[in-house]
Amino acid sequence: MAGTDRVVVAVTGASGIQYAQRLLQVLGQQGLETHVVFSEAAFDVWKAELDIPCDPGKPDLKAFAGTDGDFRLYRNSQVGAPPASGSFRHRGMVICPCTMSTLGRVANGTGEGLIGRAAEVALKERRKLLLVTRETPLSLIALRNMVQVTEAGGTIIDANPGFYTRPQTVQELIDFVVARVLDHLGIDHQLTKRWGEKQK
Ligand SMILES: Cc1cc2nc3c(=O)[nH]c(=O)nc-3n(C[C@H](O)[C@H](O)[C@H](O)COP(=O)(O)O)c2cc1C
Repeated sequence: MAGTDRVVVAVTGASGIQYAQRLLQVLGQQGLETHVVFSEAAFDVWKAELDIPCDPGKPDLKAFAGTDGDFRLYRNSQVGAPPASGSFRHRGMVICPCTMSTLGRVANGTGEGLIGRAAEVALKERRKLLLVTRETPLSLIALRNMVQVTEAGGTIIDANPGFYTRPQTVQELIDFVVARVLDHLGIDHQLTKRWGEKQK
């Protein structure tokens, strides 16, 4: 396999874990081989933002995503897991949502944990690396880290929904952001209306 049916998803401890939920739901429903890793802080956000029970030792991805899927779950300490190697081909890696801490680690190539290592590898192999960053306001350090990641080949997809689709629900706001991620991965979806297309 050339890796086109494979995606790596890292979930870090920024607000907006709902973006990761929806992303995993779509990837699961589409049958994509999805390699998933949570940072320790992501579990704190899971507990704060979701009603789904969270066991960091054994996270229930089916409950999290609301669907079955071809999910392969790793701990962030598993630095020898497949996404840590350049020989492991994939369509792209998404850090969703992405904290300013993880952004800083990626920008500086620390290779720390499986998330840091897989991101470093995605950049060196010139694979897609998408960072769904979430913080406001942004410090000069965060802004510089965003520039650094962009110059290295990554893409910052700020968790920043638009309103021109006239969203009526929180789900539509979430879908706006997840749709941008799927577009960048080249994965078909019907999550949002597109500007210029006929409204239903
Ligand atoms: C409920 C909650 C919400 C948070 N939201 C954010 C956020 O939106 N952006 C951010 O950069 N950090 C946020 N943090 C702080 C990070 O979780 C913290 O800096 C952590 O060390 C990041 O680690 P990680 O990058 O390994 O996930 C939040 C923490 C909690 C508990």
